[in-house]
Amino acid sequence: MTPTPPSGERPLESWRDEFPILRHTTYLNSCSLGALSRRSLGYVGEFHALWNAMGAAAWYEEWWGRLDALRSGVATFWNAEPGEIALSSSVSAAIGSVASGIDYGRRNRVVVAEMDFPTLAYQWMGRSEVEVVRVPSDDGIGVTTERWLEAIDDRTAVVATSHVFFSTGFVQDLPPIAEAAHRAGALFIVDGYQAAGQLDVDARALGADVYASGPLKWMLGGPGLAYLWVRRERIEELAPAAPSWFGVEDQFGFDIEKLHLRDDARRFEPGTPALSTVHSALGGLEILLEAGMPRVAERIRTLTDDLLERLAGAGLEARYASDPARRSGIVTVEVPAGRDAKVLADRLRKRSVVVDARDRFIRISPHFYNTVEENEVLVDELGRVFESG
Ligand SMILES: Cc1ncc(COP(=O)(O)O)c(C=O)c1O
Repeated sequence: MTPTPPSGERPLESWRDEFPILRHTTYLNSCSLGALSRRSLGYVGEFHALWNAMGAAAWYEEWWGRLDALRSGVATFWNAEPGEIALSSSVSAAIGSVASGIDYGRRNRVVVAEMDFPTLAYQWMGRSEVEVVRVPSDDGIGVTTERWLEAIDDRTAVVATSHVFFSTGFVQDLPPIAEAAHRAGALFIVDGYQAAGQLDVDARALGADVYASGPLKWMLGGPGLAYLWVRRERIEELAPAAPSWFGVEDQFGFDIEKLHLRDDARRFEPGTPALSTVHSALGGLEILLEAGMPRVAERIRTLTDDLLERLAGAGLEARYASDPARRSGIVTVEVPAGRDAKVLADRLRKRSVVVDARDRFIRISPHFYNTVEENEVLVDELGRVFESG
């Protein structure tokens, strides 16, 4: 993978040409699915061409290198060592693999937030030996550090939560939660699916032991893969209960008698990864590395502030954190009483405005490739569909 280094020279707006959907659609739903880039299309085209031309020979001559390129690109992206990164098939599978390697004998509690994406809690709800504790939200937007501190104690085996809450965009202040988890002797697992690609993430600096995300959303690489970071010092104390041949020292030794897990994070890899996604993911990752995450994050913040101002100006009430430090590029607006958010999102789509519907809310998520003009279109159209019968 050879992304050119971040350039302060290239204006971020110039990346818009990379994303064909932006020519005909006001696309403000990157927290569900990031836009497809020409770069990703090119890589996927190359993958198909090699498959067609070489068949299985492409594995060893080309594709194996692509897997390494993606792992090391993710390591660069998260300021991590390559040996701390594993590819997985989904965030659920990645976290489930780590969860399977924890001993719940002495401590049996797993503390999550009631606002987390449910798949996080499900990893432990299927284990009868584990008690899942849900930390409440006082305002329906975020969870305070005090609430976390109340819930974590010496019965806690794991604290697992989101970096950014999927339904409100609330950015959690992770270091104090990490500190409380570690003081209690618990492992700290972070679901970063709604953070990586919109915030500049350094999982180690945040205090996480495990951080999972993937290319689908803000990282612009499509569905079919996940990225897992495991802190070097914790890797060898965690052995997945159901390892795969990708997770052993001598993958091509085909020894069915012995199980020697790798000493790096790849011990959690679940088997052959989705190769087409590996290629589209490389495109998205390169673009973010080249654009530079600090600039991307700043641009998303500017667009979000602009969106909030426009919504307020139009009399549309948005739900977001009152503390600016806790806000991110996910903004939700409650639909008028008696209206169905999915129906309204569908109407917007027919007007070439793509947003998401969650519960009673329209969820809007600008990425760095969006513009304030698109915010304006969205707010106008939103006002119209809210008013129409
Ligand atoms: C915060 C968060 N975590 C996890 C998931 C689910 O991830 P996966 O389907 O890869 O398991 C989502 C999906 O939308 C999400 O928003």
